[in-house]
Amino acid sequence: MTTVSAPGKVYLFGEHAVVYGEPAVPCAIEKRATVTAELRDDNHVRVEAADLSLNGFVVEYAGSTANRPDVDVPQPLLDAAMGYIDAAVQQAREAADAPDAGFDITVESEIPLGAGLGSSAAVVVAGIDAATRALGEPLARRELADRAYKAEYEVQDGQASRADTFCSTMGGAVRVAGDDCTTLSTPTLPFVVGFDGGAGDTGKLVAGVRELREQYSFAADTVEAIGDIVSMGESLLVDADPEVPPSDELVSELGDLMNINHGLLSALGVSSRSLDTMVWAAREAGAEGAKLTGAGGGGCIVALDQSDETETSLRYTPGCKDTFRAELADEGARVEVDVGSEEA
Ligand code: PMV
Repeated sequence: MTTVSAPGKVYLFGEHAVVYGEPAVPCAIEKRATVTAELRDDNHVRVEAADLSLNGFVVEYAGSTANRPDVDVPQPLLDAAMGYIDAAVQQAREAADAPDAGFDITVESEIPLGAGLGSSAAVVVAGIDAATRALGEPLARRELADRAYKAEYEVQDGQASRADTFCSTMGGAVRVAGDDCTTLSTPTLPFVVGFDGGAGDTGKLVAGVRELREQYSFAADTVEAIGDIVSMGESLLVDADPEVPPSDELVSELGDLMNINHGLLSALGVSSRSLDTMVWAAREAGAEGAKLTGAGGGGCIVALDQSDETETSLRYTPGCKDTFRAELADEGARVEVDVGSEEA
């Protein structure tokens, strides 16, 4: 039995533009998805996902999710969750050259689904890592990130960048531009997250930006401008000493860039009333900057504030269902338990 956890993330800068090859800087946060994989002696996959939503479910199937039995959970939730887990299992089988391997899989997650905190990437990364380890074929980190990306790409019909999966695999802050993925050494930034309790439809939001970009040249320029913001932010980060807390000046400059990034994302139509309300509440509380994180349409914002003011203010902001300080997760995919794998 092998248990692996992997972190969610916030985008400091660059979501959506990263889909078109511009750079993005996501940062892993200490909210984790944990997947346990246990080998079976048949080729079935049994998935138990008690914490993925309020309606937990257990489902057992043979082969692909297409053959699964009917279960009593909302179809879109089941499709989304099962799609990612199925894709992770397929990647693990392929990587370990074990096409008929069966698993009992248990998923627990502290990361709200579809809220811009990279829940699906964390589940896929932890799932592939746990399943390949259970088969006695652990993957090098780069291969794990690559296979997790392929799984997401498949489930999201090609509407995925490498950003979420690379960040969740490696931990810390990373820079992703197309296929070029690197880790960054950065000071620990004072992230505060606000969550409206909802979720956006990543596929639809990405498709909406694509349409705008094709229709209006200024929308294409907006995507490029986001790339410029990311490059500026990235150079501020790499010039800073990662061993000491960030200076007020650095936090303030990064905050300005986050504010501009949010404005450009709004122009591309991916913000929402609740996200804008939380962004303004954070700014008015004294945050150095605030923006939506992830696909948008609903879900989470991320703000920079060294003080407790933003969290306090968000707690009383109508439409904000949860708020918390998000520590940077230095560790990416992490083995929690590894006993009795095929090699053991
Ligand atoms: O909301 P999330 O965590 O799925 O982030 C989506 C980020 C996008 O840039 C919009 C898409 C992608 O795959 O990079």
